[in-house]
This record gives sequence, C-alpha cells and structure tokens, in this order.
Amino acid sequence: MAQRVIVTGGAGFIGSNFIRCIINKYPHYKVINIDKLSYSGNLENLRDIKSDNYQFIKADIKNYALMQHLVDEGDIVVNFAAESHVDNSINEPEVFIENNVLGTHSILEAARRKKAKLFIQISTDEVYGSLGFDSKSSTEKDLLNPSSPYSASKAAAEMVCMGNIRTFNQPIIITRSSNNFGPYQFPEKVMPLFITNLIGEKKVPLYGTGKNVRDWIHVSDNCEAIDFIIHNGQPGEVYNIGGGNELQNLDLTKSILSCLGADESSIKYVEDRKGHDLRYSLDCSKIKSMGWNPKHSFDSALNETVQWYKQNSWWWEPLKNIEGRRTS
Ligand code: NAD
Ligand code: DAU
Repeated sequence: MAQRVIVTGGAGFIGSNFIRCIINKYPHYKVINIDKLSYSGNLENLRDIKSDNYQFIKADIKNYALMQHLVDEGDIVVNFAAESHVDNSINEPEVFIENNVLGTHSILEAARRKKAKLFIQISTDEVYGSLGFDSKSSTEKDLLNPSSPYSASKAAAEMVCMGNIRTFNQPIIITRSSNNFGPYQFPEKVMPLFITNLIGEKKVPLYGTGKNVRDWIHVSDNCEAIDFIIHNGQPGEVYNIGGGNELQNLDLTKSILSCLGADESSIKYVEDRKGHDLRYSLDCSKIKSMGWNPKHSFDSALNETVQWYKQNSWWWEPLKNIEGRRTS
C-alpha cells in the first residue's frame, strides 16, 4: 500500500509549501489535506497541484468523529493546523485555545486510536519565550516559558503530545521552527505585510524601537527539515529547526526597503506589541548532527521572496482587504 500522509492546515502558508515539497519528492505518496479554510487557509496556494494522489477535504480538526473516520492505520499525520498570528491571539485568545489545544488533542487522539505510524506536531521557537540579546540559544532541553496566548497555546499542545508519548508510547515527534518566509504567506505577518505595503507605496508599521530579534528560515528549508525528520527522526523526540539568520526587525526592514528601492522615510514607528518577546534564537545542533542544514542564503532568499510578491499580486491583492484582519 502506498504511504498516506495526512497534512492538516495544508491550505495555509507552510502547509501548502510542505504539500508541494512532498508531492514533488514522493509522487507515489497519497497526500490528504485536511483544512477548515479559516481566513488564512486558501486553496489558491495549491492551484498548481495537479497530482491524482492529492486530495483536499474541508474539515475542522476539532471534529473528532470525522478525524477518526479520516485517519487510517499506518498514516503519517503532520499537524500544521493552527491559529498562527500572535497579534490575533492578543485580541481573541479563546480561538487559539480551541484550535491549537483542543484541535491538536482531537487529531492526536484520532491518530492514536487508528494506529497512525507517526504524528508530527508542528510547534514553534516561541514556546521558549523571550531571550536577552546575549543569552545562549535555546536547546530542545530548555524549559518552555511562553509569553503570548499564541505561544501558550502551542506550548499546551506540546504538553498534550508529551502526555501521549509517555502514557501510550504514541509515535510523536515535535518540531520547533523559527520565523518562516517565502511565497503564499498571509499578508498579516511582517514580511509579506511590509513587502506588499511598499509595492503599494504605503509606509510600513514597525513596532516599538525595531530592536526585537527573530531568526529567519526560508519555508522550503523548513519543509525539507520536516521531511528529513519524518524519515530520520526518533519518535518521542523534539527538534529545533532554524535558519541561522538572526536579525533585528529594523535591519530586516532596511533590507526589505532596499530590495524595493525605498528609504527609511517609509518606516512608520507604531505602538509596540503587548508582551513583545525581545529575541528568539535556536540551537540547531541536534538536527544538524543528523545531516540536515538549511540551503538558502538569507539575502538571495529575501530577494527571491520580494520578486515573488511583485510578480504575484493576483494572489495577495484580494487578501489585503479581508474584513477584520490587519493587513496594512
Ligand atoms: P497559517 O495561518 O498560514 O495556516 C494555518 C492553516 O491551518 C490555515 O489553512 C487554516 O485554515 C488551518 N486551520 C486552522 N485551524 C484549523 C482547524 N481547527 N481545523 C483545520 N484547519 C485549521 O499558518 P502557518 O504560518 O502556515 O503556520 C502553520 C503551523 O506552523 C502552525 O501550527 C504554526 O504554529 C506553526 N509555525 C509557524 C511559523 C511561521 O513562521 N509561520 C513558525 C513556526 C511554527
Ligand atoms: O517564531 C516563530 C513564529 O513566527 C511562529 O510561531 C508564528 O506563527 C509566526 O506568526 C511568527 O510570529 P512573529 O510574531 O515572530 O511574526 P510576525 O510576522 O507577526 O512578527 C515578526 C516581528 O515583526 C515581531 O517582532 C513583531 C514585528 N512586527 C510585526 C508586524 C505584524 C512589526 O514590527 N510590525 C508589524 O506590523
């Protein structure tokens, strides 16, 4: 029987890039995309996928009976489905607890009861909480210390997974990645928001002083790492996945401005995010010692990403004015 891979949240940014990666690399695998199509889920992200081995099912992972029906023995389940934007979690925390914690519990239990071969929980570097400028990078053994409703919900989902690993010996792997960038990212996140604002000759809203640090990884490097972990990772383990590109937001902004021929007069300093984490930084020696390394260099990947948004306004223009979302 062909390997079946269930991708939840596959109509979102990373999930859709992951589906493209898996279909190109393993054309014989059956790929089933389960997504409820929230505001950030968009089937246009997968418009170019033509494979007969790909199937989309519109469903909510919180629907446990349906998840039990959809997951089969031997499946690999990769759980990307989540509310993903920190600012939204500050305005509406309950949606994050429902989807990220209860949703994970539901699909995880379906995977356990149906004897899925492997469950990959896609988590985030934000679970480690804020680091100082000079602190050591986070290792997989560090304590979780989340600071937003988003990161708390992701840490809680990890704890639900940890409980099942210990109690049921369920084959689960957790990945914690840094900030992804690339094509098909909803224009609420800083990179596509700033790029599309500048293409439209608008200013970019930089929070606080712009000193906060994020580590940037091209989405295809993260997708390759998840594939690597599926095939080489140890069930029960956690793996950090970072790009090794730590940048202060102001420096990131200057690089984006320069790619688009704009200057610092296009920056509008705005009120800081509540509880804004100063820095995230991942120690990735565990996955690197197994043979994975990111392939993209930051400057050329940023330039390619800017070009993609310039050439694909058909994709992001309809998203810029979605009701109830801040996309400029
Ligand atoms: P996204 O918002 O672009 O996509 C999330 C997808 O999940 C959407 O298609 C949405 O419709 C779907 N979804 C949400 N709740 C669902 C539910 N209950 N049932 C079914 N589908 C549901 O997010 P993204 O940036 O692609 O992030 C994907 C995952 O990766 C998330 O778990 C996020 O926490 C994690 N992550 C993201 C980043 C990043 O930089 N974007 C970094 C580390 C980890
Ligand atoms: O670190 C991984 C996380 O990266 C993922 O788990 C999240 O799903 C993903 O959304 C992302 O979270 P961030 O909060 O780091 O990403 P965001 O693009 O929202 O913000 C990046 C930085 O830019 C952050 O320091 C806040 C700042 N920012 C953001 C926005 C939207 C601004 O200065 N202005 C803005 O308008």
